[in-house]
Amino acid sequence: MADEIETESASFLSTFASELFGSPLNLCLLAICLFLLYKIFAGRRNATQFEPRPPALAKLKKQDFTLEQLREYDGKAKDGRILMSVNGKVFDVTRGKRFYGPGGPYGVFAGRDASRGLATFSLNEQTIQDEYDDLSDLNSTQMESVREWEEQFMEKYDYVGKLLRPGESPTDYSDNEEDSSKDGEKSKDD
Ligand code: HEM
Repeated sequence: MADEIETESASFLSTFASELFGSPLNLCLLAICLFLLYKIFAGRRNATQFEPRPPALAKLKKQDFTLEQLREYDGKAKDGRILMSVNGKVFDVTRGKRFYGPGGPYGVFAGRDASRGLATFSLNEQTIQDEYDDLSDLNSTQMESVREWEEQFMEKYDYVGKLLRPGESPTDYSDNEEDSSKDGEKSKDD
């Protein structure tokens, strides 16, 4: 019995290895994964050991953004604030700067609408469009994936406002400032 299990695992491992090393595409994907893991864990080590923790930025007041306005928050300005949009919602992801900051594994999303990249599992800069992206060509699995990312970002980061479509006017939030904590927009703990 033990011999059978051993033979089965050996044959599974050899099939897995030949699938992996027999295809250049799989090898590329493996290399990308290893590179991303390296960037994530190297970033984590630097953040915890070497850099003094910068003071937390003041919470942004609730506001909507055009694509152009969003691009200003790519983490390269003096305050280092990073915003990113997922499925029409803009989040302050500055706390995740080891992911989205300059040189981070997901830095391509900083100041951009990341929806299409997340939906298609792509970190290619060309995936992110310069014009407003209505995502209408994505299939249902991809749209489901964007919604899951959106939920994850709602849990982890501060929601700032909407991403405006071309010609859409920004919402005036001055009346409901005090209500913001009721709709899941209270500042997330570090
Ligand atoms: C292919 C190999 C990949 C590996 C091994 C990988 C690994 C990881 C790991 C370990 C984390 C969690 C880090 C942590 O919480 O400390 C993470 C988070 C994340 N990954 Fe990946 N990833 C890969 C590909 C991708 C791709 C292609 C995308 C985008 C299209 C992506 C987007 C993200 C995002 C947005 C997060 C969340 C960061 C946050 O919490 O703000 N990943 N990844």
